[in-house]
Amino acid sequence: MKLKTLDTDCSEKLNNRLADEFKAFYFYKNAANFCKLNAYEGGYKFFSDEAESELQHAKKIEEYLSEWNVMPSLNPIETPEAINSYVDIFEKAYNLEYALYEAYNKDSIEILDEDAATFTFIQQFLKIQTDSVFEYNTFLTKLKRLDGDELGITYFDKELLNNS
Ligand SMILES: [Fe+2]
Repeated sequence: MKLKTLDTDCSEKLNNRLADEFKAFYFYKNAANFCKLNAYEGGYKFFSDEAESELQHAKKIEEYLSEWNVMPSLNPIETPEAINSYVDIFEKAYNLEYALYEAYNKDSIEILDEDAATFTFIQQFLKIQTDSVFEYNTFLTKLKRLDGDELGITYFDKELLNNS
């Protein structure tokens, strides 16, 4: 008896998103290391947790593919782009989260007509991405107001530590 599986288009889309989740994991790991190196304790804690949640997102996709008898693809993960400053992390994170929001949004639209179950499955990721875009939007609004003031950034980082 042959077990059922996803169609190729759905599998490819999910494998691409799996690669993106690992890429996000690496990005946040790099951001956490930058924060540790520069004694931004709030950032170190916050981005370490972000890295961990990206791995959880990847795990959910891997499990979904496996349950549908599709072998998850584990592709090489690119070295993250160098981080130039504390604020730079938040700008890069915003762009990364927005790009992933767009990818899940596009997948949702394309999958809706072909596979309602997979459509439903990816809605949780679309929600996660929307929340992340909003969260980084707020961070960037606050950081913009500080205009590079180091004392203000130190305070921001303390707040991040207390709230995460
Ligand atoms: Fe994620």
